[in-house]
Parts: sequence; C-alpha cells; structure tokens
Amino acid sequence: MQVQQQSAVVCRGLTKVFGTGTSEVQALRGIDIEVRQGEVMMLVGPSGCGKTTLISTLAGVLNPSEGECLVFGTNLNRLSDRERTRYRGSNIGFVFQQFNLIGSLSLRENVGVPLLLQGVPYSEAMRKADEALAKVGLGHRTEDRTTSLSGGQQQRVAIARAIVHGPKLIVCDEPTSALDHVTGQHVVELLRSVATGEGRALIIVTHDSRIYRFADRIAQMDDGKVQRIYESHQDFLAAERLS
Ligand SMILES: Nc1ncnc2c1ncn2[C@@H]1O[C@H](COP(=O)(O)OP(=O)(O)O)[C@@H](O)[C@H]1O
Ligand SMILES: [Mg+2]
Repeated sequence: MQVQQQSAVVCRGLTKVFGTGTSEVQALRGIDIEVRQGEVMMLVGPSGCGKTTLISTLAGVLNPSEGECLVFGTNLNRLSDRERTRYRGSNIGFVFQQFNLIGSLSLRENVGVPLLLQGVPYSEAMRKADEALAKVGLGHRTEDRTTSLSGGQQQRVAIARAIVHGPKLIVCDEPTSALDHVTGQHVVELLRSVATGEGRALIIVTHDSRIYRFADRIAQMDDGKVQRIYESHQDFLAAERLS
C-alpha cells in the first residue's frame, strides 16, 4: 500500500499587502512553496523581498491577504486566535531575528515562558527549560540573566526557547547574522540535529553563504515571489556563480 507522505508546510497562492492607498506595500505576490518532512529548507533573497513576511505568515503570526498555508495539514489561518496560539505553542518554534529575550528574567525562565503560556506547571516548565538549555550548551548558566550573555549565547537561548516544547516545525529568521563564523556553524548544526528527522522540518531565512551547505534545498526569493527552488546548495552556488 502506498502511503501518501504529508508535507510539513504547503503554501498556495499566498499574497500579503501591508497598508492601504499610497502607503500600500505588496510584500508577498503569490507564493507557492512546499517544505517536505525531514528537510532543511533555506530561504534566501535580498533585504525587503518578503522572507520575514513569508515565515511569519506560514507560522501563523501574520494572516495572508490571499491564499493559504498548511502546517502538517492544519490551516492556521482558519483557526480562532486561541486555537492558533495553542497550535503554535505545541507545534511550531520560532527564532526571531532580534532574540526577543526578557532581560529581567533568568535564562531558565526565558526558555520556560512558552510552556508556562501553555499552562504547564512552573516546576515542570523550568525542568524542561533546563533540558533545552543543556542541549544548546548553556546548562551551566540557567540562573543567569540574559543581559550577561554574548550575542552567540543569546542566540542559543533563543533557540532553546524555540525547541523547549519539542515542536515539529522550527522557523528561524537569520539565526547567524549576529554570530561569528564558528558560533554560526555550531548554531546551525545544533538546529539541524534537533529539527530534522521524521515528522519534522526546519526553515531558515538567511543570506549567510557560510551556512548554505546545511540546506537540503534552497528557495531563492525576490520581489515577493519564490523565483526558484534549488535541489541542493551546490546547484544554488553554481547558479550564483553564473549570474
Ligand atoms: N508591518 C509592516 N508594515 C508595512 N510594511 C511592511 C511590514 N512588514 C514588512 N513590510 C514591508 O514588506 C516588504 C517585505 O518585508 P520583509 O518580509 O521584512 O522582507 P525581508 O525579511 O526579506 O527583508 C518590505 O518592503 C517591508 O518594508
Ligand atoms: Mg527579514
């Protein structure tokens, strides 16, 4: 019997318009993209081409103007706010470009926040936060404040917070832009190790060519559209050299 492999993410005919009248911006102009289960998909393209808008829409943070996105078969935009928050809280991890950490809280509390919002009891949330922090190599800093950390360490806390609930889909917005080369490589290796495998997927927005080699496929975006999807990072780099 043939089993239909479900996609991790499917977006069809996605458009997004910000503002109205003379201040109108067409951020997405008809996006069709599929992210397979088990893969690392990178989204690359010039600043302003719609990368952040696309991942925010597929993660249910923004509503599209037209079209739809399914995440493991669920259309987030059809859910009520409450259902959507709950779905995101258990299935999606989002690493924001600005780490969005809370300076007055400890590392452990920062990482535990998504669980507390889901109603997980405090002690259990903190235990899981410690486990996630250990995975990113910060198990010895759980009680420190995030303000005492380097950029690379803050990025790792943001990743711990995105993986603490064991999400099926992890979405990261330029996760290495503030990091030196070695730290950046470690961060992506770490993301790969926690985010790939059966029933999972990892989407990384980046223009850091040093991490392209971690991609299974690369989607090249420009002007609110996916221009082309490359089946390997070598294909993408070859096309870049020729252009
Ligand atoms: N909240 C917003 N309000 C108005 N315009 C926006 C908003 N967010 C993004 N844009 C515009 O949409 C376009 C795409 O932005 P974005 O998705 O952030 O691009 P990228 O992440 O590729 O740099 C840009 O022209 C940007 O100025
Ligand atoms: Mg962006």
